[in-house]
Amino acid sequence: MAIPIVVLGCGTVGRALASEALSLGDEVRVLAVLDSSGGVVDPSGIPAGRLREILSFKEKGEGLGATGLAGEEAREAVHCLLSEERGVMVDATASEGTVGILLAALDQGWGVALANKRPLVGPWEDYRRLTTSGRLRYEATVGAGLPVISSLNSLLATGDEVYRIRGILSGTLGFLLHQVEVGVPFSQAVRAAMARGYTEPHPAEDLSGEDVARKALILARTLGLPLELRDVAVEPLCPPKLGELPVEEFLRELLPLDVKMQRRLEQAGRKGKVLRYLAEVSPEGARVGLVEVEWESPLSRARGPENLIVFETRRFREHPLVISGPGAGPASTAAGLLADIVRLGKEL
Ligand SMILES: NC(=O)c1ccc[n+]([C@@H]2O[C@H](COP(=O)([O-])OP(=O)(O)OC[C@H]3O[C@@H](n4cnc5c(N)ncnc54)[C@H](OP(=O)(O)O)[C@@H]3O)[C@@H](O)[C@H]2O)c1
Repeated sequence: MAIPIVVLGCGTVGRALASEALSLGDEVRVLAVLDSSGGVVDPSGIPAGRLREILSFKEKGEGLGATGLAGEEAREAVHCLLSEERGVMVDATASEGTVGILLAALDQGWGVALANKRPLVGPWEDYRRLTTSGRLRYEATVGAGLPVISSLNSLLATGDEVYRIRGILSGTLGFLLHQVEVGVPFSQAVRAAMARGYTEPHPAEDLSGEDVARKALILARTLGLPLELRDVAVEPLCPPKLGELPVEEFLRELLPLDVKMQRRLEQAGRKGKVLRYLAEVSPEGARVGLVEVEWESPLSRARGPENLIVFETRRFREHPLVISGPGAGPASTAAGLLADIVRLGKEL
């Protein structure tokens, strides 16, 4: 039977997921798609032709409020759906404001699949309320389609003891550091990452390390540590104040960091090590920042925009468990969401 889904967010990830749903045919039935302006809701399932229309409408930058229900009306229609049947609510927004509707879905027995990290990195109490039912999945929040969260959960469920998780969780910062490693000045590497579309519109967002900190917190909380975001120590790759500058000015202000970054790289090189931007999580806490990594470590192997996560556990001690691959991109993220949707669909 087709799994009914409601998709919050119709940006690059939401659209990739809706396209996947179209290509899957009968396996998934999309009951609603919402964006920040409103949404299209059809309790019997949005017909394929209408869904294609919605996607091309969004591609043109239009708001769903103009072709479907506006704002509050769309959210109310979704609330009505929740009591009518059971399905999976997908959060593909980047919003902090979805916790309420996600909790409402869980209360009605729905499953929830997240690409959006924000509901998981608010107050611990929200995290606890969201996760107690066991019907919330969030594979896509760390490493997109890579099986990071499911692997960690499987280690924990089978009684393994996790000593440490170290991960390259930002493809953008991985790319930047590799560029510096091959001799490109840091400020130029940032420009190159922007040109390839790897960064957020303002690259200060990537350099702040905050997104990596959110992922580190999600891993730490999955381990059972009741930490808040402020407990994750973050070493940003540029002074936070620079983030307030317009992009061009910001890029000029990065010039003095070229020498600094080169020096750190050389320092590491003299010790026979390489520099990586890591999230490190252990039962003692979580931190995010530059780390000098031994050449022998699997972490030194990451050369570009891929993610690489190393689990050191009681069972995987001498030879740690390594997961690597593309950790971002709409198709990979949609694949992570689909994995959660299918698993939840079987359980519901
Ligand atoms: N892109 C990736 O590679 C990747 C990988 C892993 C995880 N993620 C996460 O996936 C999420 C989506 O990423 P994205 O790249 O698709 O972002 P995006 O292109 O900015 O899309 C976000 C969508 O959410 C909608 N939205 C915002 N607030 C909403 C609300 N309260 N209710 C319903 N819809 C709302 C936006 O509406 P409008 O269209 O009206 O603005 C937009 O359609 C983010 O949290 C991101 O961190 C992304």
